[in-house]
Amino acid sequence: MTAVTPLVPQHSGLGDFTIRDVIEGQTAGQLIVAADDWGWWATLLSGDTIAPTTGIAQTVAEGLVRAGFLIRRGHRYQLTHTGHDVGKNRGFVRVAVRGWEPTFRQLSDSPHREYIPAATEPGEVARGCTDIARRRPEILEAIGRALATGAPGCTVDLGCADAGRVMALAGIAEQERFLGVDIEDGVIATAAAELAERGLDDRISLLAGSVQPEPEPPAWLATVDRGAVTTAMSFFLLHQLASDGDGIAAVLRGWMDWFPNLRRLVIGDGYLLEAPYWAQQPWFSPTYEIYHAVTGVRLWTRQEYEQAFAELGWTVRRRLEDHTMLVTSILERD
Ligand SMILES: C[S@@+](CC[C@H](N)C(=O)[O-])C[C@H]1O[C@@H](n2cnc3c(N)ncnc32)[C@H](O)[C@@H]1O
Repeated sequence: MTAVTPLVPQHSGLGDFTIRDVIEGQTAGQLIVAADDWGWWATLLSGDTIAPTTGIAQTVAEGLVRAGFLIRRGHRYQLTHTGHDVGKNRGFVRVAVRGWEPTFRQLSDSPHREYIPAATEPGEVARGCTDIARRRPEILEAIGRALATGAPGCTVDLGCADAGRVMALAGIAEQERFLGVDIEDGVIATAAAELAERGLDDRISLLAGSVQPEPEPPAWLATVDRGAVTTAMSFFLLHQLASDGDGIAAVLRGWMDWFPNLRRLVIGDGYLLEAPYWAQQPWFSPTYEIYHAVTGVRLWTRQEYEQAFAELGWTVRRRLEDHTMLVTSILERD
Protein backbone atom coordinates (compact mmCIF):
# COMPACT_ATOMS: atom_id res chain seq x y z
CA MET A 1 0.00 0.00 0.00
CA THR A 2 1.25 3.47 -0.80
CA ALA A 3 0.50 6.32 1.51
CA VAL A 4 -2.03 8.86 0.24
CA THR A 5 -0.72 12.41 0.42
CA PRO A 6 -3.39 14.89 1.51
CA LEU A 7 -4.19 17.47 -1.19
CA VAL A 8 -4.10 20.32 1.28
CA PRO A 9 -2.00 20.76 4.40
CA GLN A 10 -3.71 18.82 7.19
CA HIS A 11 -3.30 21.49 9.84
CA SER A 12 -3.67 25.20 9.49
CA GLY A 13 -2.23 25.47 13.00
CA LEU A 14 -5.17 27.67 13.99
CA GLY A 15 -7.01 25.32 16.29
CA ASP A 16 -8.41 22.69 13.91
CA PHE A 17 -11.01 20.35 15.33
CA THR A 18 -10.17 16.71 15.68
CA ILE A 19 -12.64 13.91 14.95
CA ARG A 20 -12.72 13.33 18.68
CA ASP A 21 -13.82 16.93 19.35
CA VAL A 22 -16.63 16.52 16.83
CA ILE A 23 -18.09 13.28 18.19
CA GLU A 24 -17.52 13.76 21.89
CA GLY A 25 -18.57 17.41 21.73
CA GLN A 26 -21.93 16.38 20.30
CA THR A 27 -22.52 13.83 23.08
CA ALA A 28 -21.38 16.25 25.78
CA GLY A 29 -23.88 18.81 24.41
CA GLN A 30 -26.73 16.32 24.73
CA LEU A 31 -25.74 15.44 28.32
CA ILE A 32 -25.52 19.14 29.25
CA VAL A 33 -29.05 19.82 27.97
CA ALA A 34 -30.52 16.71 29.65
CA ALA A 35 -28.87 17.66 32.95
CA ASP A 36 -30.40 21.13 32.56
CA ASP A 37 -33.87 19.66 31.99
CA TRP A 38 -33.42 17.80 35.28
CA GLY A 39 -32.52 21.06 37.02
CA TRP A 40 -28.97 19.95 37.80
CA TRP A 41 -27.12 23.09 36.71
CA ALA A 42 -29.41 25.39 38.69
CA THR A 43 -28.85 23.24 41.79
CA LEU A 44 -25.10 22.96 41.24
CA LEU A 45 -24.63 26.67 40.55
CA SER A 46 -26.48 27.50 43.76
CA GLY A 47 -23.67 25.66 45.58
CA ASP A 48 -25.54 22.40 46.23
CA THR A 49 -24.49 18.94 45.10
CA ILE A 50 -26.64 16.44 43.20
CA ALA A 51 -27.27 12.75 43.87
CA PRO A 52 -28.55 10.77 40.86
CA THR A 53 -31.15 8.20 41.80
CA THR A 54 -31.60 6.20 38.57
CA GLY A 55 -29.28 4.30 36.27
CA ILE A 56 -29.73 6.83 33.45
CA ALA A 57 -29.07 9.78 35.74
CA GLN A 58 -25.99 7.97 37.06
CA THR A 59 -24.69 7.41 33.51
CA VAL A 60 -25.18 11.08 32.65
CA ALA A 61 -23.43 12.16 35.85
CA GLU A 62 -20.49 9.87 35.08
CA GLY A 63 -20.36 11.23 31.52
CA LEU A 64 -20.18 14.75 32.94
CA VAL A 65 -17.39 13.59 35.26
CA ARG A 66 -15.47 12.14 32.36
CA ALA A 67 -15.93 15.40 30.45
CA GLY A 68 -14.41 17.23 33.43
CA PHE A 69 -17.58 19.12 34.44
CA LEU A 70 -18.35 17.30 37.72
CA ILE A 71 -16.42 15.50 40.41
CA ARG A 72 -17.75 12.69 42.53
CA ARG A 73 -17.79 12.85 46.34
CA GLY A 74 -19.23 9.58 47.63
CA HIS A 75 -22.65 9.22 45.99
CA ARG A 76 -22.96 12.97 45.33
CA TYR A 77 -21.51 15.16 42.57
CA GLN A 78 -20.25 18.73 42.58
CA LEU A 79 -19.09 21.24 39.99
CA THR A 80 -15.55 21.65 38.75
CA HIS A 81 -14.25 24.97 37.48
CA THR A 82 -15.05 24.04 33.88
CA GLY A 83 -18.42 22.65 35.01
CA HIS A 84 -19.20 26.05 36.50
CA ASP A 85 -18.46 27.65 33.13
CA VAL A 86 -20.59 25.10 31.28
CA GLY A 87 -23.50 25.52 33.70
CA LYS A 88 -23.40 29.32 33.35
CA ASN A 89 -23.37 29.01 29.58
CA ARG A 90 -25.92 26.21 29.19
CA GLY A 91 -28.28 28.52 27.28
CA PHE A 92 -25.85 28.67 24.35
CA VAL A 93 -25.59 24.88 24.40
CA ARG A 94 -29.40 24.51 24.38
CA VAL A 95 -29.85 26.93 21.47
CA ALA A 96 -27.19 25.21 19.37
CA VAL A 97 -27.96 21.57 20.27
CA ARG A 98 -31.76 21.67 20.42
CA GLY A 99 -33.00 25.03 19.16
CA TRP A 100 -31.22 25.19 15.82
CA GLU A 101 -30.89 21.48 15.09
CA PRO A 102 -33.95 21.41 12.77
CA THR A 103 -32.31 24.09 10.61
CA PHE A 104 -28.92 22.39 10.37
CA ARG A 105 -30.64 19.05 9.66
CA GLN A 106 -32.15 20.53 6.49
CA LEU A 107 -28.68 21.10 5.01
CA SER A 108 -28.52 17.45 3.98
CA ASP A 109 -31.41 17.83 1.51
CA SER A 110 -30.54 21.34 0.42
CA PRO A 111 -27.26 21.55 -1.51
CA HIS A 112 -29.14 23.11 -4.46
CA ARG A 113 -30.85 25.83 -2.43
CA GLU A 114 -29.51 29.30 -1.90
CA TYR A 115 -30.90 29.38 1.65
CA ILE A 116 -32.86 27.13 3.94
CA PRO A 117 -35.71 28.45 6.04
CA ALA A 118 -34.96 28.80 9.74
CA ALA A 119 -36.73 25.84 11.37
CA THR A 120 -36.32 26.09 15.12
CA GLU A 121 -37.69 24.44 18.23
CA PRO A 122 -39.28 27.66 19.53
CA GLY A 123 -39.54 26.56 23.17
CA GLU A 124 -35.88 25.53 23.24
CA VAL A 125 -34.71 28.78 21.62
CA ALA A 126 -36.84 30.79 24.08
CA ARG A 127 -35.49 28.97 27.12
CA GLY A 128 -31.92 29.02 25.86
CA CYS A 129 -32.08 32.77 25.16
CA THR A 130 -33.50 33.49 28.60
CA ASP A 131 -30.70 31.46 30.17
CA ILE A 132 -28.19 33.43 28.09
CA ALA A 133 -29.71 36.65 29.50
CA ARG A 134 -29.63 35.35 33.08
CA ARG A 135 -25.95 34.46 32.94
CA ARG A 136 -25.12 38.16 33.17
CA PRO A 137 -27.37 39.47 35.97
CA GLU A 138 -25.47 42.76 36.09
CA ILE A 139 -26.60 43.53 32.52
CA LEU A 140 -30.25 42.83 33.41
CA GLU A 141 -29.70 44.94 36.53
CA ALA A 142 -28.38 47.89 34.46
CA ILE A 143 -31.35 47.68 32.08
CA GLY A 144 -33.78 47.43 35.02
CA ARG A 145 -32.22 50.47 36.70
CA ALA A 146 -32.52 52.47 33.45
CA LEU A 147 -36.21 51.51 33.21
CA ALA A 148 -36.73 52.60 36.80
CA THR A 149 -35.21 56.04 36.13
CA GLY A 150 -37.67 58.93 35.77
CA ALA A 151 -41.44 58.61 35.78
CA PRO A 152 -42.73 55.02 35.59
CA GLY A 153 -44.06 54.05 32.17
CA CYS A 154 -44.78 51.04 30.05
CA THR A 155 -42.01 48.96 28.45
CA VAL A 156 -42.73 46.78 25.44
CA ASP A 157 -40.47 43.78 24.70
CA LEU A 158 -40.66 43.04 20.97
CA GLY A 159 -39.96 39.33 20.42
CA CYS A 160 -40.20 38.54 24.14
CA ALA A 161 -40.09 34.71 23.79
CA ASP A 162 -40.94 33.12 27.18
CA ALA A 163 -40.95 36.55 28.88
CA GLY A 164 -37.93 35.54 30.96
CA ARG A 165 -36.28 38.94 30.56
CA VAL A 166 -39.52 40.81 31.21
CA MET A 167 -40.07 38.90 34.44
CA ALA A 168 -36.50 39.58 35.60
CA LEU A 169 -36.79 43.29 34.73
CA ALA A 170 -40.20 43.60 36.41
CA GLY A 171 -38.49 42.51 39.62
CA ILE A 172 -36.01 45.41 39.30
CA ALA A 173 -38.19 48.22 37.86
CA GLU A 174 -41.05 47.67 40.28
CA GLN A 175 -43.26 50.57 39.16
CA GLU A 176 -42.95 49.86 35.43
CA ARG A 177 -45.66 48.04 33.46
CA PHE A 178 -44.61 45.62 30.75
CA LEU A 179 -46.01 44.28 27.52
CA GLY A 180 -44.38 41.36 25.71
CA VAL A 181 -45.14 40.39 22.10
CA ASP A 182 -43.90 37.31 20.25
CA ILE A 183 -44.90 35.54 17.06
CA GLU A 184 -44.86 32.07 18.69
CA ASP A 185 -48.33 31.72 20.18
CA GLY A 186 -47.48 28.43 21.95
CA VAL A 187 -44.53 30.05 23.73
CA ILE A 188 -46.71 33.05 24.66
CA ALA A 189 -49.53 30.82 25.97
CA THR A 190 -47.12 28.89 28.23
CA ALA A 191 -45.48 32.11 29.45
CA ALA A 192 -48.88 33.74 30.13
CA ALA A 193 -49.92 30.74 32.24
CA GLU A 194 -46.70 31.04 34.24
CA LEU A 195 -47.25 34.78 34.78
CA ALA A 196 -50.77 34.13 36.08
CA GLU A 197 -49.50 31.38 38.37
CA ARG A 198 -46.85 33.72 39.79
CA GLY A 199 -49.38 36.56 40.22
CA LEU A 200 -47.45 38.82 37.82
CA ASP A 201 -50.24 39.29 35.28
CA ASP A 202 -51.41 42.61 36.75
CA ARG A 203 -48.17 44.37 35.66
CA ILE A 204 -47.16 42.21 32.69
CA SER A 205 -49.33 41.48 29.62
CA LEU A 206 -48.36 39.20 26.77
CA LEU A 207 -49.67 39.15 23.22
CA ALA A 208 -49.03 36.82 20.27
CA GLY A 209 -48.28 38.42 16.92
CA SER A 210 -45.63 39.76 14.60
CA VAL A 211 -43.58 42.84 15.46
CA GLN A 212 -42.28 43.28 11.91
CA PRO A 213 -43.41 46.70 10.67
CA GLU A 214 -45.50 46.19 7.51
CA PRO A 215 -47.64 48.59 5.47
CA GLU A 216 -50.67 47.36 7.49
CA PRO A 217 -50.22 47.48 11.29
CA PRO A 218 -50.54 44.10 13.04
CA ALA A 219 -53.89 43.22 14.64
CA TRP A 220 -52.47 43.08 18.20
CA LEU A 221 -51.48 46.76 18.03
CA ALA A 222 -55.16 47.83 18.03
CA THR A 223 -55.58 46.24 21.48
CA VAL A 224 -52.72 48.26 23.02
CA ASP A 225 -52.62 51.77 24.53
CA ARG A 226 -49.84 52.84 22.12
CA GLY A 227 -49.43 56.31 23.65
CA ALA A 228 -48.61 54.79 27.05
CA VAL A 229 -45.54 52.93 25.81
CA THR A 230 -42.40 54.85 26.81
CA THR A 231 -39.64 52.24 26.29
CA ALA A 232 -39.28 49.74 23.45
CA MET A 233 -36.84 46.90 23.87
CA SER A 234 -35.89 44.04 21.61
CA PHE A 235 -33.26 41.37 22.07
CA PHE A 236 -31.76 39.18 19.36
CA LEU A 237 -34.48 39.81 16.81
CA LEU A 238 -33.72 43.16 15.13
CA HIS A 239 -31.08 41.63 12.83
CA GLN A 240 -33.70 39.24 11.46
CA LEU A 241 -36.47 41.83 11.03
CA ALA A 242 -33.97 44.22 9.40
CA SER A 243 -32.83 41.47 7.08
CA ASP A 244 -36.37 40.40 6.09
CA GLY A 245 -37.41 44.06 5.83
CA ASP A 246 -35.65 47.19 4.76
CA GLY A 247 -32.74 47.47 7.18
CA ILE A 248 -32.30 48.46 10.82
CA ALA A 249 -33.50 52.07 10.57
CA ALA A 250 -36.70 51.03 8.74
CA VAL A 251 -37.68 48.62 11.53
CA LEU A 252 -36.90 51.14 14.27
CA ARG A 253 -38.83 53.83 12.40
CA GLY A 254 -41.80 51.46 12.22
CA TRP A 255 -41.70 50.93 16.01
CA MET A 256 -41.39 54.70 16.57
CA ASP A 257 -44.56 55.17 14.50
CA TRP A 258 -46.38 52.51 16.52
CA PHE A 259 -45.36 54.09 19.84
CA PRO A 260 -45.23 57.88 19.42
CA ASN A 261 -44.18 58.64 23.02
CA LEU A 262 -41.05 56.49 23.14
CA ARG A 263 -38.30 58.08 25.22
CA ARG A 264 -36.01 55.06 25.48
CA LEU A 265 -34.85 52.14 23.35
CA VAL A 266 -33.04 49.05 24.62
CA ILE A 267 -31.61 47.02 21.76
CA GLY A 268 -29.67 43.81 22.26
CA ASP A 269 -28.33 41.90 19.31
CA GLY A 270 -25.51 39.77 18.01
CA TYR A 271 -23.08 41.86 16.01
CA LEU A 272 -21.27 40.49 12.99
CA LEU A 273 -17.72 39.31 13.76
CA GLU A 274 -15.85 37.49 11.03
CA ALA A 275 -12.67 35.44 10.80
CA PRO A 276 -11.53 32.87 8.23
CA TYR A 277 -10.83 30.09 10.75
CA TRP A 278 -13.40 28.76 13.20
CA ALA A 279 -11.22 29.11 16.28
CA GLN A 280 -10.21 32.72 15.58
CA GLN A 281 -13.60 33.98 16.73
CA PRO A 282 -14.93 33.80 20.30
CA TRP A 283 -16.90 30.58 20.84
CA PHE A 284 -20.50 30.56 19.59
CA SER A 285 -19.74 33.40 17.12
CA PRO A 286 -18.89 31.02 14.25
CA THR A 287 -21.99 28.90 14.98
CA TYR A 288 -24.11 32.05 15.10
CA GLU A 289 -22.58 33.29 11.84
CA ILE A 290 -23.01 29.95 10.03
CA TYR A 291 -26.61 29.50 11.25
CA HIS A 292 -27.48 32.92 9.85
CA ALA A 293 -25.54 32.44 6.62
CA VAL A 294 -27.46 29.26 5.74
CA THR A 295 -30.84 30.82 6.52
CA GLY A 296 -30.02 34.00 4.61
CA VAL A 297 -30.63 36.15 7.68
CA ARG A 298 -28.07 38.95 7.66
CA LEU A 299 -25.96 39.88 10.62
CA TRP A 300 -25.05 43.55 10.98
CA THR A 301 -21.94 45.27 12.20
CA ARG A 302 -21.74 47.59 15.19
CA GLN A 303 -21.26 50.50 12.76
CA GLU A 304 -24.50 49.62 10.95
CA TYR A 305 -26.49 49.60 14.21
CA GLU A 306 -24.94 52.85 15.37
CA GLN A 307 -25.50 54.56 12.05
CA ALA A 308 -29.21 53.65 12.17
CA PHE A 309 -29.51 54.83 15.80
CA ALA A 310 -27.90 58.18 14.93
CA GLU A 311 -29.99 58.61 11.77
CA LEU A 312 -33.16 58.41 13.88
CA GLY A 313 -31.91 60.77 16.60
CA TRP A 314 -31.07 58.16 19.26
CA THR A 315 -27.94 58.46 21.41
CA VAL A 316 -26.31 55.45 23.05
CA ARG A 317 -26.29 56.12 26.81
CA ARG A 318 -24.84 52.74 27.77
CA ARG A 319 -23.36 49.83 25.90
CA LEU A 320 -23.23 46.49 27.69
CA GLU A 321 -21.17 43.75 26.10
CA ASP A 322 -21.62 40.07 26.79
CA HIS A 323 -19.50 37.49 25.02
CA THR A 324 -17.93 40.11 22.70
CA MET A 325 -20.59 39.86 19.99
CA LEU A 326 -23.75 40.09 22.15
CA VAL A 327 -24.24 43.79 22.70
CA THR A 328 -27.04 45.68 24.45
CA SER A 329 -27.42 49.42 23.92
CA ILE A 330 -29.57 51.67 26.08
CA LEU A 331 -30.58 54.66 23.98
CA GLU A 332 -32.33 57.94 24.60
CA ARG A 333 -33.48 60.62 22.23
CA ASP A 334 -31.32 63.69 21.65
C1 LIG B 1 -33.47 34.63 19.23
S1 LIG B 1 -35.01 34.70 20.01
C2 LIG B 1 -34.73 35.96 21.26
C3 LIG B 1 -35.72 35.89 22.39
C4 LIG B 1 -35.67 36.99 23.44
N1 LIG B 1 -35.88 38.30 22.85
C5 LIG B 1 -34.35 36.97 24.19
O1 LIG B 1 -33.41 37.61 23.77
O2 LIG B 1 -34.24 36.28 25.20
C6 LIG B 1 -36.01 35.54 18.82
C7 LIG B 1 -37.47 35.62 19.25
O3 LIG B 1 -38.19 36.40 18.29
C8 LIG B 1 -39.41 35.77 17.96
N2 LIG B 1 -39.80 36.23 16.61
C9 LIG B 1 -39.29 35.87 15.42
N3 LIG B 1 -39.89 36.57 14.42
C10 LIG B 1 -40.79 37.39 15.01
C11 LIG B 1 -41.71 38.36 14.53
N4 LIG B 1 -41.82 38.65 13.22
N5 LIG B 1 -42.49 39.00 15.43
C12 LIG B 1 -42.41 38.73 16.75
N6 LIG B 1 -41.55 37.84 17.27
C13 LIG B 1 -40.75 37.18 16.42
C14 LIG B 1 -39.10 34.29 18.08
O4 LIG B 1 -40.27 33.54 18.28
C15 LIG B 1 -38.16 34.26 19.29
O5 LIG B 1 -38.88 34.14 20.48
